[in-house]
Amino acid sequence: MERVVSGIRPTGNLHLGNYFGAVKNFIKMQQDFDCYFFIADYHSLTTHPTPDNLKKSVRQALSEYLACGIDPSKCTIYAQSDLPETAELYLLLNMNAYVGELERCTSFKEKIRKHPDNINAGLLTYPTLMAADILIHKAVKVPVGKDQEQHLEMARTFANRFNRLYNCQTFPEPHAFNFGSGLVKVPGLDGSGKMGKSEGEGNAVFLADSPEIIRKKIMKAVTDSGPTAPGQEKPESVANLFSLMKLVSLPETISFFEEKYNDCTIRYGDLKKQLAEDMVKFMTPISEEITRIASDDQLINKVMDEGAEKARISARSTLNEVRKTIGFRS
Ligand code: TRP
Repeated sequence: MERVVSGIRPTGNLHLGNYFGAVKNFIKMQQDFDCYFFIADYHSLTTHPTPDNLKKSVRQALSEYLACGIDPSKCTIYAQSDLPETAELYLLLNMNAYVGELERCTSFKEKIRKHPDNINAGLLTYPTLMAADILIHKAVKVPVGKDQEQHLEMARTFANRFNRLYNCQTFPEPHAFNFGSGLVKVPGLDGSGKMGKSEGEGNAVFLADSPEIIRKKIMKAVTDSGPTAPGQEKPESVANLFSLMKLVSLPETISFFEEKYNDCTIRYGDLKKQLAEDMVKFMTPISEEITRIASDDQLINKVMDEGAEKARISARSTLNEVRKTIGFRS
């Protein structure tokens, strides 16, 4: 089975956009590939979290992914910091990563612009750590968003450079991987664009949101003043609410409101109420599961211990090979 590796930012708070865009894809991949998913907690140190916050957000992220259906019996899920082999490979790869190419990386330049007061070496070498995450398992498929493509290209560069330098075939080339070809775009609630965390509080519905909060957010969603002619095209804000309905409501519910829209008798308040209830129905089992898992320290520790143990098997094997190739005792 081909290997898949992907890192999860431990920011917690998955929203519906993440769920339908990325997480569902992970769940499907578990069946067909040898998947390694990890919480990227080393990476998160670039922003200097407090120990308490770090611990909490790693556990929250893990709970959310497990609640969505990441299954430790079908894949390997672990915390990056529980696999120090990654850190060793990172050190070794850094010896052949050039400061010039790291400085040219778009995400680094972006960080300099936004946080000129915290340009640490960890940020500069972020792509080397990411390459180590992938190469430690010799993964060939990496499910990531568009914003990670340059990092992935650097991972290929580092892999090929190592192979060339030592005249070996140690690392295969990792490539971006989108499994569910027609990935669903989930719109936000503010009338335009996609659902995202940075677009403001009310724009995203989080998996951990309570029913009251979900209802409040949906009722506040942007609409217009309503259709004035039969069969009129929907403005983006209203089309977005219909798109959200397609994710959580029954087909007959959607056609009911489509008809009402088309003959101009629609009341957006009714549409929102229905959407809110369907959304609550869809989310409640997930958010209850998140709460259950997050409060079960024993379960979380067990998942993390077993995940790290499984991950270590492939990591040790790669690292032994690399150490031997370089000329270290292995
Ligand atoms: N950089 C990725 C992100 O911000 C997270 C990540 C870290 C990752 N290491 C990785 C993703 C390795 C894929 C493979 O989303």
